Amino acid sequence: MTFADNTVLVTGANRGIGQALVTEALRRGAKRIYAGTRQPLAHPDGRVTPLTLDVTNPGQIQAAAGQVESLDLLINNAGVFLYDDLSDRAALDRHLAVNLFGTYGVTQAFLPLLTRTRGAIVNNVSLMALAPLPLTPAYSISKAAAFSLTQSLRALLASRGVRVHAALTGPTDTDMLRDFDIPKASPESVARAILDAVDNGEEDIFPDPMSRSLADSWRGGAAKALERQNAALAA
Ligand SMILES: NC(=O)c1ccc[n+]([C@@H]2O[C@H](COP(=O)([O-])OP(=O)(O)OC[C@H]3O[C@@H](n4cnc5c(N)ncnc54)[C@H](OP(=O)(O)O)[C@@H]3O)[C@@H](O)[C@H]2O)c1
Repeated sequence: MTFADNTVLVTGANRGIGQALVTEALRRGAKRIYAGTRQPLAHPDGRVTPLTLDVTNPGQIQAAAGQVESLDLLINNAGVFLYDDLSDRAALDRHLAVNLFGTYGVTQAFLPLLTRTRGAIVNNVSLMALAPLPLTPAYSISKAAAFSLTQSLRALLASRGVRVHAALTGPTDTDMLRDFDIPKASPESVARAILDAVDNGEEDIFPDPMSRSLADSWRGGAAKALERQNAALAA
């Protein structure tokens, strides 16, 4: 996929990695970028069309889908990250509502458009989909579920020509990880790496130094081989 003349939708586009993805897609010459946000957004570039889009709100998802005529790339980026210890089911519900069902709902709503263009989906998952962090187990569960959703959609949508990517993003310097005093990648570098990987057709994307250190072993590992073997059944 080259971005020139393409139409892109990014959820959670007002800050962090989502904002950086909008800027990077503009830099690459995207024709139109739909910026999904919960609060009103004003953007200086005329190619950016704001969309009111709380990904947990089915009415807003439907209304947003009605405003988009054509779509080449959907980036499910919106996410929540809260500390918990699994003692309160509400924390799990909240993470699943945004990180899993939000991704699912937005994808289903825009699938007819993506099928028409034989487009692509990127789900900004997390390295915590592969190994949970005990400080944020509910988040980790929701990202593992979102990764599994990504893998199933990849197998199911291949016959329709829709590519489905997972960004297995590691620590990135945004509001989300404000409290973590660890090395972090810049959101700009992560956005660049995600769009490069879409261009290169990498289905699992490792967009920062920490995730990149796992890329080869993931791609050559038993779990990936099993994913491919299982996906062949859908074909
Ligand atoms: N930062 C990291 O280290 C890291 C690592 C791995 C994966 N990720 C993933 O990358 C994605 C972006 O994270 P970030 O680091 O950029 O975090 P961030 O700066 O906290 O931004 C989160 C974004 O998600 C939006 N959002 C939250 N709930 C939403 C909802 N119900 N509907 C629509 N938008 C909603 C927020 O909008 P509001 O401004 O309205 O709250 C905001 O735009 C997330 O999916 C996150 O899990 C981040």
